[in-house]
This record gives sequence, C-alpha cells and structure tokens, in this order.
Amino acid sequence: MDKILVHGGHRLSGSVKISGSKNSALPILAATLLTKEPCVVRHVPDLSDIHYMLQILSHLGAHVERASGTVRVQAEKIRSVAPYDIVRKMRASVCILGPLLGRMRKATVSLPGGCVIGDRPIDLHLKGFEALHATHRVEQGNVHVHATKLRGGTAHLRGKLGPTVLGTDNVMMAAVLAEGTTVIEGAAEEPEVVDLANFLNKMGAKIHGAGTSQITIEGVRKLHGAEHDVIPDRIEAGTFLVAAAIAGREVTLKRVNPHHLDSVIQTLQQAGFPVSSTKTTVTLQGKARPLALHITTEPYPGFPTDMQAQMCALLTRAKGQSSVTETVFPQRFMHVSELKRMGARIDLLDHSAFIHGTPRLSGAPVMASDLRASAALVLAGLKADGITEINRVYHIDRGYESIDEKLNNLGAQIERVKV
Ligand code: EPU
Repeated sequence: MDKILVHGGHRLSGSVKISGSKNSALPILAATLLTKEPCVVRHVPDLSDIHYMLQILSHLGAHVERASGTVRVQAEKIRSVAPYDIVRKMRASVCILGPLLGRMRKATVSLPGGCVIGDRPIDLHLKGFEALHATHRVEQGNVHVHATKLRGGTAHLRGKLGPTVLGTDNVMMAAVLAEGTTVIEGAAEEPEVVDLANFLNKMGAKIHGAGTSQITIEGVRKLHGAEHDVIPDRIEAGTFLVAAAIAGREVTLKRVNPHHLDSVIQTLQQAGFPVSSTKTTVTLQGKARPLALHITTEPYPGFPTDMQAQMCALLTRAKGQSSVTETVFPQRFMHVSELKRMGARIDLLDHSAFIHGTPRLSGAPVMASDLRASAALVLAGLKADGITEINRVYHIDRGYESIDEKLNNLGAQIERVKV
C-alpha cells in the first residue's frame, strides 16, 4: 500500500492540465451498455474507479479496449448480473442498473453499503425505476430490478437531502429505451448529468432539459454507437485552485470549463484571491493568508460537497473564524480530525465545522479516509512545516490522476513510497 510524503513549504507556479471528469466518465461508460454498436469515449481519466467500471463492463460481456485516455466499448451480447467482487469496491457501480434495465429489462447488482461519507441509500433510484413500471426486490445483498414492459412515467427524484446525481443518471439511462415519455422532476443539474445526456443524445436518445430540474425523455426503440469527449473534471480543477491558494504564486489550469467552477471561483475570490479565466483556462494568484469565509455546500450550481474538505484545508490558515456547513452528505467531516492532528483548530457541531484560522500547520502522519478528505490532507501538507505523511493513499488514486506528479510539476515536493 503506497503512502505519500508531502514536504511542506514549496511554492507552486506554472500550469497544469486537468483530466477528464471521473463522475462524467463513469456513467458514460455504463451507458455504452445501451447499444450493441461500438462507442468511443475520449478523455477518460486513468483512475482505479474507472478500471473497476471497465472490469464490470468486461464481466457483463462487453469488449473493452483502452489506449491512453480513449476507451472503445462494444457491448454486443451482455448479461444482466454484475459481479459482486468488483461492484462492492465502488459505489458508483450502481449506475449500471439503469442501462441494464433499459436494454435487458432486468438487472442484478449488489446493493451498495454505506461509506465513510454517509449512509448512501438508493431508494430514489428505485423509486425512479418504479415510475417506469419496473419492480425491484432485495435478496441476499443484491438488488434485482425487473420490468415486463418498461413504460414512461413521472419520476420525482428530489429527496430530503436534495436531488440525486447517479439516481438521475440511472433513470435517464433506463428511460431512453422505455416506451413513451418520461419526466424526471427534481432532477440533479450537475454538469456531469448534462454530459451523460449529451452522450445519450449522440447515441440517438431524445432527452431535453438536462441541466435543469426537469428532464424529459422520449423513449426510442434502439440506440446506436457514438463518440464522445468527456468534460474536464471540475472537482480536480477546484482542488488545484485550492492548492494554488494554499501554496501558489500563480497557477493556471488548462482544459477546464470555468463556468462549471463558478461557485468555487467566487468563493476563492471572496477569500481574497485574484482569479481570472479565459474560455478554457483559469488562473489564480496566491497570497499570504485567506480571509475567513462562511460556506454551505449545495447541489450544483451551489458550492460542491466534493470541494468541502479541500476548502476546510484552506480555511485552517484563514485570518479569523470560518464556518463550513455540509448539507449534501451531513456526516462528511472525516478530514477534520486529521487536520487537527496537523495543528488546525476546528470544532464540529452538527453538520458544521467552525474553523479558527491559525498561521501555521505542522506536518504529521495522517490517515486518508475517502477521496476528497485525502486530497485535503495533501493540500494542507503543501504549506505545513515539515513532512506530512498520508497513509492509505489508494483513496486518492480513485479520483485524482497522478496528483503527486501534477503537483510536483508545479513545484511541490511530494514522494510516493511503497510500504
Ligand atoms: N440520496 C438518498 N437516496 C438516494 C440517493 C441519494 O437519500 O437514492 C442522498 C445521499 O445520501 C446524499 C444526497 O442524496 O445525501 C446526494 O447524493 P447523490 O445521489 O447525488 O450522490 P451520488 O450520485 O451517489 C455523486 C458523486 C459524488 C458526489 C455526489 C453529490 C459520482 C460517481 N459520485 O454521488 O462524488 O459527492 O454525487 O454531488 O458521480 C466524489 O467524487 O468524491 C463523490 C463522492
């Protein structure tokens, strides 16, 4: 198991190219199951979560080829039962339910358990499938979804914690091959949902309204192969912007969509950092210490939960007291106790972290608990005195393509050590 050693105190400058979005690529790869014809997906990041998805597609019978960032999938003949051993490793495997239901009218996937960021139920996905006249049962840890006739209906997908991203993806992917029209109310508006809808439309689907809270899908009989470029990863981009805010002189992100980063850019500007953008780049200038902020995570276009841990790392050094409230995954504060081991002063109360800024953090051995929490620890280590040793870095490899190399190219000193 690798660990990462971050030698603090090295300033970052230069430019970094942002990879394709993990959370777009995963459902887009799953969507290739909807046709017998070949599909080509470009800008697929090289991440362990993506490898799991490709393994699942292969196990289901698809022919998968990968050459650097381009993946070619042909799912000529497929099975409807996903292998437990791979599915259990990644919660996002649940997004094969929709395409399997759409194409095969049945699907069996092991029911995802909770994870460190929260309970993570799929009740809304199943409610959406019910609106398409499918039934489900849970047996021996698996969820079986079945429809004699898949017919359009109205699915209300907004739960008490907001809309569901993968739930919206799943229902959209099943509905494209259902009879008649489906309306998703309370749909997630994330750019990744729009990217999936664009890919499905290239395959011959008829989806309108993706990117708003109401999506309409007119079912078609068949989909065909398509080619697609995955959008840039707005969370990887946001993470590098925070790295630049913590330890940068001037850092430019290349191959980004600045519009997808609006709330993150505005938040960093409020913290006092000059940020400028062109159509495909964003540049941030570092400064000594950020101003204190009050942030609440929200579904897109609000401030993303996937940037909350990284922002906590930044605010540990703010001038004054900040607060960070988590509304999407209210338990997602595993990074707080690790940041405190580095000298951060943070009080947790209900779903909020109250951060009392301090000028210095000190390096310490810390434990990565989930993907974004791990990223937050790397970022905190960039400016901490001495060495920050981050264990269990497999979490970070799930979602960041070569984060150590990319940061080193900007001037950081990060070592990856095999243990
Ligand atoms: N929820 C329910 N019932 C459901 C589904 C969700 O109550 O059936 C709740 C969740 O427990 C959570 C909220 O609704 O409190 C939002 O969850 P959502 O379903 O939107 O999350 P997801 O689709 O499983 C995706 C991303 C996450 C990201 C969230 C929120 C992928 C593969 N994952 O998860 O990304 O945090 O949307 O934006 O797209 C990450 O990349 O680090 C990550 C965790």
